[in-house]
Amino acid sequence: MTTPTPLNIAFIGAGGINYNAHCAAVETFPEGYRVLGVCDPNLENAQKLADRMGAQTQVFDSMEALYERIGDQLEAVIIGTPHFLHQPGAAYFLERGIPILLEKPATCSTDEMDSLLALEKEGAFIQVAQMQRFDPEAMWLKDFIQDDEKFGMPLTFDMNIWQNIEGYIQGNQNHWILDGKKAGGGICISVACHPLDLLRYVTGQDFTEVTAIGRFDPPFTNGAESSCSALFKMSGGLTGSLHASYKPTRVPYSQRLVVFGERGSLYQDAHVGEYGGAYTAVSADPKIDTFPAMFGGFEPIEDQVRATYPDLEKNSYATQLHHFREAVLSGTRPRQNTLEMNYNTIAVLDAIAASLASGKTEKVKRLEA
Ligand SMILES: NC(=O)c1ccc[n+]([C@@H]2O[C@H](COP(=O)([O-])OP(=O)(O)OC[C@H]3O[C@@H](n4cnc5c(N)ncnc54)[C@H](O)[C@@H]3O)[C@@H](O)[C@H]2O)c1
Repeated sequence: MTTPTPLNIAFIGAGGINYNAHCAAVETFPEGYRVLGVCDPNLENAQKLADRMGAQTQVFDSMEALYERIGDQLEAVIIGTPHFLHQPGAAYFLERGIPILLEKPATCSTDEMDSLLALEKEGAFIQVAQMQRFDPEAMWLKDFIQDDEKFGMPLTFDMNIWQNIEGYIQGNQNHWILDGKKAGGGICISVACHPLDLLRYVTGQDFTEVTAIGRFDPPFTNGAESSCSALFKMSGGLTGSLHASYKPTRVPYSQRLVVFGERGSLYQDAHVGEYGGAYTAVSADPKIDTFPAMFGGFEPIEDQVRATYPDLEKNSYATQLHHFREAVLSGTRPRQNTLEMNYNTIAVLDAIAASLASGKTEKVKRLEA
């Protein structure tokens, strides 16, 4: 067996996501990565991450200091900073030819994304960390929903995402996620971006139009919506709704997605008291011609997913990171989650924000060819 080539990486930001998810992803394949550095103005966070990653990981208080010291050995970075720092951080490394795994939302607006797309033309690339696309269940659902026999034409959808913000900020009333200027918006950009992007992935359709209403309750500031209810049209004719809220006092962080097709249905149910929930799929066999028949045929997809993707880890952060590593080492663009692929996710978030402000239906901006 050949020894894997380690990819020389650095972490930009040493907060929750980089420490909990991306360090853990590195640890699933330790010989595949050499973590040379971490930068965070919060040196306590940076040191904690460095201690976890090993003696070779140096600590810096800025990306400039990091690049000056280890830039010549650096092959890639993982950016997990507050949203308003995504575009400047990604631009800094693109300009230096360093590929980036960039946390969601890739940017706070399509204008910011356009600027990164222009810089990408110079050479280095961005892979957007919408990790739900690397979940084996999502891959299975994509095949199921796009199978005309089993699912038929997608017709309508409903999605929910709920989180008690107080549980998330843990008493920090100055948390950047509460501030629309730092987070780029409220519940939609911070967490509804996950099911919105997942829906695009499993259906292969892009959002074209949205009408949204919202609430702007404290502790959110600077125009960040605390709740949003929105109606959508998509490129293949699919229509549906989103309800997202950071304000319920008693709710676990939970996501729910239902898609109805002409022949089949997909349910991801948020079990009470749990995050997310298992997926259930059902197709038109057996035929529904009696009242009790409506209740039959609903099967969790877990066993079918395992049979279809026996080697794929359930840890989508790890699969995502290894996909990024392969692209960097082979000098190619990633097959999944390029900036272009992510464009419509940022564009629909822009359109939701515009509709919340205008009270009107807004068109979703298209990526210029
Ligand atoms: N994919 C997911 O499931 C998921 C989950 C949580 C968060 N996220 C995303 O990860 C990103 C970070 O979120 P988090 O929860 O880790 O936030 P966090 O507040 O826990 O961490 C952010 C870190 O960035 C640091 N930072 C601030 N300015 C910096 C700078 N100029 N250079 C380097 N570091 C800087 C902060 O000090 C902090 O340690 C966000 O984009 C968020 O949306 C993704």
